[in-house]
Amino acid sequence: MKFFIDTADVNEIREATALGLIDGVTTNPSLVAKTGRKYLDVVREICELVDGPISAEVLATDYDGMLREALAWHEVHANVVVKLPLTLDGLKVTRQCANKGIATNVTLCFSANQALLAAKAGATYISPFVGRLDDVSEEGMDLIAKIVAVYRNYDFDTQVLVASVRHPVHVLQSALLGADVCTIPFKVIEQLVKHPLTDAGLAKFVEDSKKIPR
Ligand code: E4P
Repeated sequence: MKFFIDTADVNEIREATALGLIDGVTTNPSLVAKTGRKYLDVVREICELVDGPISAEVLATDYDGMLREALAWHEVHANVVVKLPLTLDGLKVTRQCANKGIATNVTLCFSANQALLAAKAGATYISPFVGRLDDVSEEGMDLIAKIVAVYRNYDFDTQVLVASVRHPVHVLQSALLGADVCTIPFKVIEQLVKHPLTDAGLAKFVEDSKKIPR
């Protein structure tokens, strides 16, 4: 399973890439707004830090505006993946991009039927939001299981990119279900490594190492 980092904070991206675990980056307007920087400046800097797919979202919601922005994002860097909302106009732009060989990430997916439409529109990635489903008392991971099954049934090329990840269990469940990608906030990446028995075991080894004659 590929690991993308879900952030627009270049310091987090720098730290995470130094770990050697990051295959790509996802951003969205809310994450970029938190940085106080221009979206284009943020994406250009990320492209210098990460050699992998970098999702940059369109801000328009109408067909013409989204298509214009999609083409502009594509010009920024070969690694930019255009993020488009799961609406009828978003799907139309997805199809246009697919026809032009432009990679897309269809976002805000909350049902398997929406994911089916995105695959039929030629999306490169589908982003189901598991955390936001959990927030409204639905099982976010059930949606991942359904999409993985549907895509396997028909051999779709669209990759399942688990988004809105809130904790390490989401990451493990994504891997168990065979999702292609999990986009993970920096805080959760840090949590993945933690285990109290690792800490206790290391402390004991350090203590005992002092007793070894040198
Ligand atoms: C990434 O592509 C999504 O935009 C992001 O994971 C959404 O996460 P949130 O539901 O925590 O805002």
